[in-house]
Amino acid sequence: MSTELEQLRETCGQCHACPLGDTRTNVVFGVGNPNADLMFVGEAPGEQEDLNGTPFVGRAGQLLNHYLFAVDIDREQVYIANILKCRPPKNRDPLPQEEDACIGYLREQVRLIRPKIIVCLGRIAAMRLIKPDFKITAEHGKWFEKGSFWMTAVYHPAALLRDPRKKEDMLEDMKQIKRRLEEREALPDA
Ligand code: URA
Repeated sequence: MSTELEQLRETCGQCHACPLGDTRTNVVFGVGNPNADLMFVGEAPGEQEDLNGTPFVGRAGQLLNHYLFAVDIDREQVYIANILKCRPPKNRDPLPQEEDACIGYLREQVRLIRPKIIVCLGRIAAMRLIKPDFKITAEHGKWFEKGSFWMTAVYHPAALLRDPRKKEDMLEDMKQIKRRLEEREALPDA
């Protein structure tokens, strides 16, 4: 299974399906356990991620690590990816046509990894993966059953850097994700 994932990484590494392929330093495919039960999906690489080729390694990534540690989830055991694999200029929001060009890679990642839980990091991922009218302030921490997995969304770590008042909700949502993960892991595979 991980071989197929590696082949997908190679294909994605050559991608020029949208103009971001011309401006990126590195494709940021994804990182973590190819058999993860828990998958996080962010929006798009930022500057540090573009330079590194790894998702969530900048300031937002440090904050994500903090919450994973706080609820005793090992970053090595989860899988982390983004809706877009290449950095949009000046970190602007992804364009619909960029998402359309890129989403097939994420779908394949999900098919190969088969997580039990997918957590959207922020509004952009939630609107793409859960429902187009997703409202992050009202609906973070709610659960949605989609096929063989459960989905939820939490605030994007960058939003917590801008507004620390959201941090309490983030911790509660992360605790709930940990509980749900333990429950799902106790069940036989679907
Ligand atoms: N923000 C994201 O959405 N993804 C990253 O990988 C880094 C910052």
